[in-house]
Amino acid sequence: MKLYTRTAGTGLPLVLLHAFPLSSAMWLAQRGGLAAGCHVVTPDLRGFGGSPLGDDEPSVDAMADDVAELLDTMGLDKAVVGGLSMGGYVAMALARRHPGRLSGVILANTKASPDTPEAAANRETIAQRLLDGGDLLDTVPNLLGTTSLERRGMVVGRVRGLVGSAPARAAAWAQRAMAARPDSFDTLRGLNVPALVIAGDEDKITPVGDAEAMTKALPDARLVVIGRAGHLSAIETPETFNRAVADFLTALA
Ligand code: MLT
Repeated sequence: MKLYTRTAGTGLPLVLLHAFPLSSAMWLAQRGGLAAGCHVVTPDLRGFGGSPLGDDEPSVDAMADDVAELLDTMGLDKAVVGGLSMGGYVAMALARRHPGRLSGVILANTKASPDTPEAAANRETIAQRLLDGGDLLDTVPNLLGTTSLERRGMVVGRVRGLVGSAPARAAAWAQRAMAARPDSFDTLRGLNVPALVIAGDEDKITPVGDAEAMTKALPDARLVVIGRAGHLSAIETPETFNRAVADFLTALA
């Protein structure tokens, strides 16, 4: 599986994995704001953006293996790997399956717990609806914090555009992959590289408590809670997000 990938900058490799149902386009401000200090690598996870979906069964493990293969192709032995929400689930699968490829981990607006049976059933309903021609635009208000919804019209418009262009088959596949993901707390407990956990204080999908639980499980982690940010903190408050990441990379180096 060859992932379409946008890159910027040189130096320490930083791979950023996007949220559902977005693409590497969501990391525009990170490619712009972090490239002065590192080599930012932002792939489109399978089926999204410019990457093909393939015909594997839905799983976050397949997505993680794609990223490991991307590191091989780019000649990168190790990288700091960060993921936001679904991207975080993939980063945790990478930590489970390819721990030697990580020099640090960033988990933003994500959680280590698996779906409840109800949440998994709801994802199957969404997958079916997508395959029957539905769209995901009704999820936009949940993806954004109150501050963005009320005062950041450009952010709302941009996220609507990104969500509206998500390919239905890929989005259905990814819902099924997320529904099948395992509990990742043991993986976090066993992680032997530094980690940064980022939360948004207006995140309705993965509240701050999820970030606190991951921070507690990780042997070496710092937690940054961003004010006036919802679930898509990297898009809603890019300067604060980038500062947290840049500080983490400086401490790592
Ligand atoms: C995401 O933003 O990637 C999704 O909200 C994750 C999820 O549905 O659990």
